[in-house]
Amino acid sequence: MKIFALFGNPTGHSLSPLMHNAAFSKMGIDARYVPFCVENLEDAVKGIRGLNICGVSVTIPFKTAVMKYLDELDDSALKIGAVNTIVNDGGRLTGRNTDWIGLSIALKKSIKIDKKTFAILGAGGAARAAVYAVLMEGGTPIILNRTAEKGRKLAGEFGCKFYHIDDIGKIKADCLINTTPVGMSPDTGKSPVESAILTNFRCVMDMIYNPLRTKLLEDAEKAGCTVLSGLDMFVHQGAEQIKMWTGMEPPREFMRQVVLEKLMAS
Ligand code: ATR
Repeated sequence: MKIFALFGNPTGHSLSPLMHNAAFSKMGIDARYVPFCVENLEDAVKGIRGLNICGVSVTIPFKTAVMKYLDELDDSALKIGAVNTIVNDGGRLTGRNTDWIGLSIALKKSIKIDKKTFAILGAGGAARAAVYAVLMEGGTPIILNRTAEKGRKLAGEFGCKFYHIDDIGKIKADCLINTTPVGMSPDTGKSPVESAILTNFRCVMDMIYNPLRTKLLEDAEKAGCTVLSGLDMFVHQGAEQIKMWTGMEPPREFMRQVVLEKLMAS
């Protein structure tokens, strides 16, 4: 049996074990995906080699910290500055990033990215993946953040514009992407922006998938925008991990259904 793992702390909330185990079973692969609440990251990474764990998903708070323990980093992980996927190739560990691919696939279902403008709320790891995805697909990102210094630094690194989040009313773009945790369960009554400014965007995407309909998306729908929850991004980033680990195409629609059912039941 092949073993795959999730490294995070905490990991109890994660829907990745449910989704990945369902996918492996549907694909007829004899594998288990196990969540580990990591106490010592360096030792945990050594354990990947020692236990011959075939692949690992990395989540909060280790996506950046894990980089220095790996043998190799792919271009996206280097540029984004975060690893969410480790591939174990005979003891050689490569850090990769599928968050940006998941976002790119999810966005492209509803909106063209090439030559379009994307206002990105936040300047953390999730925002970095969003900026990278938009640039890779030929779009123009604009960073908006609460802490100006952090936002300006990110904008400078990727050569894009920065605005303070309070100035969002000045911006018109094809799409607004929320990468901040504002509105995430259990704090569901909050939105990162005033509803009045949402008419400046054709499409609004929230990276949050719990709840599926955040306050931001509710407001955006009322404002007539096309809305996208973080569910598809979550499913596709996980599906891309399975593809990297097994070389096989996973059952994406089935994985989406499994996660959706769990979210609807909770
Ligand atoms: P992640 O890796 O998931 O992106 P992160 O690195 O902690 O997480 O980044 C979270 C982002 O959400 C940050 O840009 C943060 O803004 P600051 O740079 O000002 O801290 C933003 N954020 C978090 N809470 C926020 C809030 N209540 N209002 C606006 N932005 C918020």
